Amino acid sequence: MKTIHVVGARPQFVKAAMVSRAFGDQGEEYFLHTGQHYSENMSQLFFVELNLPKPDINLGIGGGSHAEQTSGMLLGIDRYLEQVQPDWVIVYGDTNSTLAGALAAAKREIPIAHVEAGLRSYNRSMPEEINRVISDHLSALLFCPTDQAVGNLKKEGVVEGVHQAGDVMADALFMFTEIAKQKSSILSTLDLKTGGYALVTVHRSGNVDDREKLGQILSGLAQIDMPLIFPMHPRTQKMIAEFGLDVPANLRVIEPVGYLDMLMLEANADCILTDSGGIQKEAYLLGVRCITLREETEWVETVTAGWNCLTGANSSAIKARFDDFHPNIERPQIYGDGHAADKIINILLQN
Ligand code: UD1
Ligand code: UDP
Repeated sequence: MKTIHVVGARPQFVKAAMVSRAFGDQGEEYFLHTGQHYSENMSQLFFVELNLPKPDINLGIGGGSHAEQTSGMLLGIDRYLEQVQPDWVIVYGDTNSTLAGALAAAKREIPIAHVEAGLRSYNRSMPEEINRVISDHLSALLFCPTDQAVGNLKKEGVVEGVHQAGDVMADALFMFTEIAKQKSSILSTLDLKTGGYALVTVHRSGNVDDREKLGQILSGLAQIDMPLIFPMHPRTQKMIAEFGLDVPANLRVIEPVGYLDMLMLEANADCILTDSGGIQKEAYLLGVRCITLREETEWVETVTAGWNCLTGANSSAIKARFDDFHPNIERPQIYGDGHAADKIINILLQN
């Protein structure tokens, strides 16, 4: 079997690393990197840490408007599909790279496997929601991380080729947590003690491209009585500068970190405040309380289980939940047993 993995953004490197490991030498695999993320600490570092094969091709697309990014990717992916003639194209998550990969493959009638299918926020103003819906409806195999995701697809009439495989990001976390403990020195480098800080990440366009919302988030964080570590996404760095906003004094801004350092920062935090999808799940898996700086989430199970709460970009809600949200309850194994990628590859090989 000849497969192309289409990746481009930070969380996709984590997901594809696990699927590629499970694929092993059971066929020919090719990595197409769209170049959506290109800074060393947003891209190459992940390939090294996660032992991902070097991309066979990097389209070097970089930033730009949605149309610029997606159309550039579409052309480049299409040419590569013509050259390689794969049996399957695997796309991951919900970025513009996912959408371009799915669309290019669909137009060439090459079957698509979507890893992390069926997620919905039911908020069409999120670019990711459009990417998810279209990618799901074009895919022949849909690998859902949760029962909720299977149910979401069913509501849209998508039932064929749907499999609940578990979550490949959980696979990665289970595999790399021990390795991170051995290899990462981030806690001593930053002089952090377990439970002595909170971890912040913010990068959703709905939050950071809006001056009022970004201002609300920063002012909520400013009221938190604890040191905050903030590995700041380049989009957020750019928008804070563009809006001329002040970074509160209790916020320690650092450059984005690699996956191993991130796992250590997450695992030892008192609280995680984030608008990231992947990090909400990681907080749950690590048993760290999570405050999600959004109005809704695709990862509803973390909220239902009582470990995640939603504040939106509302400064007083952020402060209030930081003070009063202290879950101390069971965490059911909602993201699988760490073997999602094996299940995905087994199913793919049977098709
Ligand atoms: C993208 C995804 C988002 C995902 C996130 C993961 C879309 C629509 N959005 O958002 O779903 O959660 O990746 O992190 O696909 N930049 C750099 N260096 C980089 C990458 C980005 O400087 O390596 C800067 C550029 O100014 C760029 C901006 O960040 O224009 C935004 O990057 P982009 O890839 O367009 O979107 P993300 O916000 O990263
Ligand atoms: N991540 C990382 N370093 C960082 C921020 C995030 O390694 O500085 C990891 C994080 O642990 C998770 C993934 O990147 O595995 C999530 O990516 P991101 O938040 O950018 O995207 P999302 O999941 O929201 O699409």
